[in-house]
Amino acid sequence: MKPSSSTKLIGIFGDPVSHSLSPAMQNAAFEHMGIDAVYLAFHVPARPAAALKTAVSSIKALGFMGVNITVPHKEKVIEFLDHVDNEAVDIGAVNTIVNKAGKLIGYNTDARGYIESLRQETGFSPQGKNAVVIGAGGASRAIAFALLKAGAKRLVIANRTLRRAQTLSRDLKKRFLNAEITAVPLDKKFLRPIAEDSLLIVNTTSLGMINNEELDFPLYSLPTDAVVSDIVYRPLDTGFIKKALIRGLSVHRGLGMLVHQGALAFELWTGKKAPLDVMRMAALKALRNR
Ligand code: ATR
Repeated sequence: MKPSSSTKLIGIFGDPVSHSLSPAMQNAAFEHMGIDAVYLAFHVPARPAAALKTAVSSIKALGFMGVNITVPHKEKVIEFLDHVDNEAVDIGAVNTIVNKAGKLIGYNTDARGYIESLRQETGFSPQGKNAVVIGAGGASRAIAFALLKAGAKRLVIANRTLRRAQTLSRDLKKRFLNAEITAVPLDKKFLRPIAEDSLLIVNTTSLGMINNEELDFPLYSLPTDAVVSDIVYRPLDTGFIKKALIRGLSVHRGLGMLVHQGALAFELWTGKKAPLDVMRMAALKALRNR
């Protein structure tokens, strides 16, 4: 559909943002569904701090349907919104804003997007299971929250900087009183015994991304029915995923979370069921063209 004077605007605010696959994925979905909207990437710098405030006020001023928010703005953006959904408040981060008749409502679709793609692609349900989350940044926070909300029994957060893992663990314990939540250093000595009775391992760090070092995790200590999950999608198969496949374990690749969080955002903006396959194909095509 060609943009016209009645075309609705949607966008993504981030820094950096030019690498984002969301424009390709969302525009393919609008096209497929015959929705007269266009999704664009906007570079909103981390500094000066006023840049984000101004960008958010433009959502109302220009009548955007909504936007996605990405690094480094997901936490900071909360203070500029009219209302924030409970789950996003609990996670402390917003990745989707809906402009509802001039009121800006914030949501977090990362957490639910992660669980939905994990379920769809591996059949894994966190209920009553032991999981390990590698990393303690923003992505880890959303995924750890999602796993606990979905009923994980024990969650171990392993991070290079132990203090960050401890802070995240403390925050989660306040919300999930019955779960066993611990923080450990990202060190094989600690991870080996934990791996022995864990059924899900998730990498939420940038380890394994193109040009970065690989994550070194004792995959051979995992039970044979464990699932190995990686949020990195460039490359599609990280070294961590490849090693898990060689070991014969089920895997969950990063592209799934990207597509599902986008699908949930699409549904919040349009009220229509997202065309998941169309979005996945568009994201894959955009990845291949880089
Ligand atoms: P995001 O919001 O994408 O999660 P972040 O908040 O910067 O990004 O968090 C990045 C995570 O990747 C952190 O857990 C970080 O570990 P530290 O807390 O020790 O910094 C982890 N990470 C990044 N590079 C790493 C590396 N080379 N080795 C180990 N962990 C790394």
